[in-house]
Amino acid sequence: MRQSSRRLFISSSFATLGTGSFLLGQDEKMNSTPVPESFLRKLVPEIPSFQPSTLFLTWHKDPTTTMVVQWIGTAGETADNTIAFSDEPAAVHPPRREPGARSQPVNLTWRTQKPVASPYPQCDFKVFRAELTGLRPGRDHVFKIGRSSPSYRFRTMPSKANDTITFVSGGDCGINQACLDNNVIAARQDPMFAVVGGDLGYDNGRSLEASIAFIRNYSSTMVDSSGRLIPLIPCIGNHEVNGGYGAREKATFFYPLFDGLFPETGYNTLDFGDYLSLVLLDTNHTSKVAGAQTEWLDKALAARKDLPHTIVVNHIPAYPSHRNPVGKVSKDGKKLYGTGEDQREHWVPLFDKHRVPVVLEHHEHTFKRTKPLIGGMQNDNGVLYLGDGSWGRLRIPRPDDQLNVMVKTSDDFHISMHRFQGAERFHLALGSTGKVMDVARTGQRKLGIVTAGG
Ligand SMILES: [Fe+2]
Ligand SMILES: [Fe+2]
Repeated sequence: MRQSSRRLFISSSFATLGTGSFLLGQDEKMNSTPVPESFLRKLVPEIPSFQPSTLFLTWHKDPTTTMVVQWIGTAGETADNTIAFSDEPAAVHPPRREPGARSQPVNLTWRTQKPVASPYPQCDFKVFRAELTGLRPGRDHVFKIGRSSPSYRFRTMPSKANDTITFVSGGDCGINQACLDNNVIAARQDPMFAVVGGDLGYDNGRSLEASIAFIRNYSSTMVDSSGRLIPLIPCIGNHEVNGGYGAREKATFFYPLFDGLFPETGYNTLDFGDYLSLVLLDTNHTSKVAGAQTEWLDKALAARKDLPHTIVVNHIPAYPSHRNPVGKVSKDGKKLYGTGEDQREHWVPLFDKHRVPVVLEHHEHTFKRTKPLIGGMQNDNGVLYLGDGSWGRLRIPRPDDQLNVMVKTSDDFHISMHRFQGAERFHLALGSTGKVMDVARTGQRKLGIVTAGG
């Protein structure tokens, strides 16, 4: 039962009991006396009435000092939607108050931020967005929306990678039970954030319901064991776009939610202090692989050459595990591209040149791990490609491996759990029961000393 309905239900239940002889044991005349609201408040703990079912967190920049609070809702659905937030320990972990005990006055510092509303397509809903800035790194925070929401928690990323950094990734989710189950597995790992590498809800740029259902499922399940909301970092896939490929406007629901991270193009970087950068790419959906994006990628990777962890995320894989990677020429002499050919031609040389340690790939709906590769050939100092997008969708991998690059493939649902400790990285594939299906390790990324193994 939804909390708002539950509140009404509880209130009406007490009101009903209060006017019946069962409770008061008095005559009919006395029973008709209305029960004072103050009496009901003593019996019924206040249940927050504003709990947007689409509430989620994301980032536009600097995850060490900012957080974006976002939800899809209607104007006026709550009297005041100002976000009040604090990292004071007494606010984040308020002392438990015994029933009947008086609350102790505590001087807490709360900052406030009013959300900005922007249209959500094909409906009267709005996207409400508040970017909280100037936060302290590596701290638990609490926030409320207006006066009538519960207290929600999140944690900013640390400014230095002194401790272990953990996150989950995957793609090709959908809105089915498998996706929900894997959300639960993902949240159970207590990741610091989740990367979804395209094909989120399969709205295809046309289904309002699918776009909202994906966010609602994420909101209800992606909460860690300490009650912190797990921020979502997306990259675009073909099922975000009406027709799979086209102008930015064709990604009907994606950019209204994520244009803070992707203000002009379908690609960008998200930098975490001096230890991690996510390079989020667009595999031809609203930005072409060749040309401006490739030129930008070369510069973006060069600028991050000294970071210990630079991780690339894309949707359509350079090394597909289900579709045919090899192009052919049609009967009328036309070149038909194999899956990932564009990426292998334009991006793989850059991944090799800058020794990207790991590329997270999706779209094929399988599990895959390649050999470490340089120029498509096994090399102990090479680039590891992990995929292939089976958070909520499944296909059978190709029985042949035409490019001879795979170490493992399978038709299992999975998410990836990444654990970075110092210069070492561990990459676990977790199946739909939470069981570890695969473990890989990548180490130093500097030219000539990159290692990868499983
Ligand atoms: Fe997909
Ligand atoms: Fe896809």
